[in-house]
Amino acid sequence: SKPPIRVAVTGAAGQIGYALLFRIASGQMFGPDQPVALNLIEIEPGLKPLQGVVMELDDCAFPLLTEVVQTSDLAEGFKGVNWALLVGSVPRKAGMERADLLGINGKIFVGQGKAINDNAAKDVRILVVGNPCNTNCLIAKEHAPDIPADRWFAMTRLDENRAKTQLAQKAGVPVSEVTNLCVWGNHSPSMYPDFYTAKIGGKSAAEVIGDEAWLKETFLPKVGKRGAEIIGARGASSAASAANAVVDTVVALTTPTAPGSFTSVCVLSNGEYGVPEGIITSLPIRTDGNKWEVVKGIQLNEFSKEKIAASNAELTEEKKVAFEALQG
Ligand code: NAI
Repeated sequence: SKPPIRVAVTGAAGQIGYALLFRIASGQMFGPDQPVALNLIEIEPGLKPLQGVVMELDDCAFPLLTEVVQTSDLAEGFKGVNWALLVGSVPRKAGMERADLLGINGKIFVGQGKAINDNAAKDVRILVVGNPCNTNCLIAKEHAPDIPADRWFAMTRLDENRAKTQLAQKAGVPVSEVTNLCVWGNHSPSMYPDFYTAKIGGKSAAEVIGDEAWLKETFLPKVGKRGAEIIGARGASSAASAANAVVDTVVALTTPTAPGSFTSVCVLSNGEYGVPEGIITSLPIRTDGNKWEVVKGIQLNEFSKEKIAASNAELTEEKKVAFEALQG
């Protein structure tokens, strides 16, 4: 049988971890014929709850799951991994400044970047979910000099999925009709779900909806504040939908993209579409399942350009603050 794909998950005992591990182990991430091994990484206080999660993994008797490692040691945790899903991070607490949060998480991602660099498999790919995910990803990447820049990703697929559903519900069509929805920029309320480029049933989504005021004044803030809306209703932040977006992102990066389509992922910018170079920002991506490229030739109008520039300005500032905090 095939050798397993080894997947590290940090923050494995957290909410997203609890929704994610079972989907990986059941074959939903790498397919029904592909064995998987899980390297579950937690900080010390998370190790006991993690034991409980691993008992539940045992009790699922997943035929594809070959091994589970539980550890708070980063060298052990990232040893030989083909994928590193960096979910754990420190949440912002009351009274904490944004710069403090960027600094605290920055240190975590320095250590994880180094440990991935020194221990992971040669083909490792990294997806950062823990917030602020774009800047955390950039920091880890900067501390992993042996790993090519095109292996680093941060997640905006949840924003893409949220946006697709809002458009589908407004148009009264199944969500599968909504395609080519690119989220641009930072994974924050400033991200821009590009309804001008999106298609519904192969036609311009903006034309099908026919209500620009709704798109600009209702749709955009609805998607931007969806996370807060879920916290308000559920009393806890989105977890199952975030885990689902992790599965979707890895599937999108490991299987060929449908012709004429694309997916949103945050990658290192090389200046495409006038985006500043050297930030991890959300762009439209196509792949053959191995090599990926930024989709070229999307026409952006002034409104879109302004929104994208504003979100990327936020990222440039975040990068500055985070790297200053790391030096200080
Ligand atoms: P959670 O608080 O339930 O779980 C986080 C887990 O990470 C905890 O078990 C904690 O012990 C662990 N952890 C903290 N620091 C760690 C470290 N240095 N190494 C290893 N583990 C560590 O949080 P939840 O709901 O699972 O969310 C995780 C992260 O994902 C948060 O930062 C959240 O903001 C982010 N997120 C990102 C989304 C995106 O679209 N990019 C969507 C939803 C959440």
